[in-house]
Amino acid sequence: MKLGSLPRVRLANLPTPTQDMPNLSKKLGGPHIWIKRDDLTGVAFGGNKARKLEYLMGDAIAKKADMIITGAGFHSNWCTQTAAAARRLGLDIVLVKKGPRDNWEPAEWDGNHLLHELMGAEIKVVRPEKFNGAIEAEMDTRRKAGRIPYFIPIGGSVPLGAAGYVNAMLETFNQSSELGVDFDYLIHGTGSGGTQAGLVMGARALNTGTKIIGAAVDWKTKEEQQADVNRIIRDSHDVLGLEVEIPFSDIVVYNEYVGGGYGFISKEKAEAVKVLAETEGILIDPVYTATAMACLIDLCRKKKFKKSDNVLFLHSGGAVALFPYREPLKAYTKGKQFPWTIPDWSPQAT
Ligand SMILES: Cc1ncc(COP(=O)(O)O)c(C=O)c1O
Repeated sequence: MKLGSLPRVRLANLPTPTQDMPNLSKKLGGPHIWIKRDDLTGVAFGGNKARKLEYLMGDAIAKKADMIITGAGFHSNWCTQTAAAARRLGLDIVLVKKGPRDNWEPAEWDGNHLLHELMGAEIKVVRPEKFNGAIEAEMDTRRKAGRIPYFIPIGGSVPLGAAGYVNAMLETFNQSSELGVDFDYLIHGTGSGGTQAGLVMGARALNTGTKIIGAAVDWKTKEEQQADVNRIIRDSHDVLGLEVEIPFSDIVVYNEYVGGGYGFISKEKAEAVKVLAETEGILIDPVYTATAMACLIDLCRKKKFKKSDNVLFLHSGGAVALFPYREPLKAYTKGKQFPWTIPDWSPQAT
């Protein structure tokens, strides 16, 4: 793979720590559990997107872009980290966000939306069915105005973004030799699939033997999620010069922890947030990392791992999203019914 010759801008605080979680391991009574702290990458409040953005922004700068256009869900971590990276590089930023109605405005600014506004992103909110058209219209208008916009798809999940997670696997491999431990499994939340694609390619290229488990955060079938990851891997043969063949069976997805769907919090996700906070003092987000932790807890309870296994949990960031979920988290903590299940910003909240 030719990672070294790709244009790259340094944005993330790397390497991120890989730490032992003795209290969680004891509580779950199964394997030895570790955590990779990609919530500490920096770039706004940190998260997995910082690694992807190093290559994507490198490409944007190489192409002389003067603004970035991207989009995703209303409370997207991706949008937050992209806006922060754009600002740091002196670029304008346009965010097209999916909402319950066109031009929807929340009653209060909270979580990631507050951060998008603070960074002065130009924000357009549209219904999901108008999303692609709205992005194209933005690109068109800006080009006609003499600007050089650079478009990045949702989550930066293209080969250049995945390169950031090939690198993360290399970093983890080096740390595993420093720590004197081989990781049998790595568990993370998978959405647009770039993180998983990079991890799977990295593990195979380095022959680490680590099984990469993606806990799907969206209501896709397992096959759809695997196909999304596989598409990025296939495209990486050209873009990243990937020469190793990656068997489809390397793309392992569990989709039973989504609960009500993307952005919906379930009791299992609330439990995951509380368990990690109470055992290790580490805060995860209710959408992505809580889904992955709910998966890890359940697999431990079902005795999927051997006691001698080393399982690495990837903290991919996003904990600012805890705040918009204050009500269900309070209800869970006090042992009451959840007050709501559909967040008001969800396109399903119509
Ligand atoms: C905190 C967090 N974890 C995991 C993911 C999933 O990463 P990917 O989109 O590369 O599958 C995201 C995506 O937005 C995220 O924000």
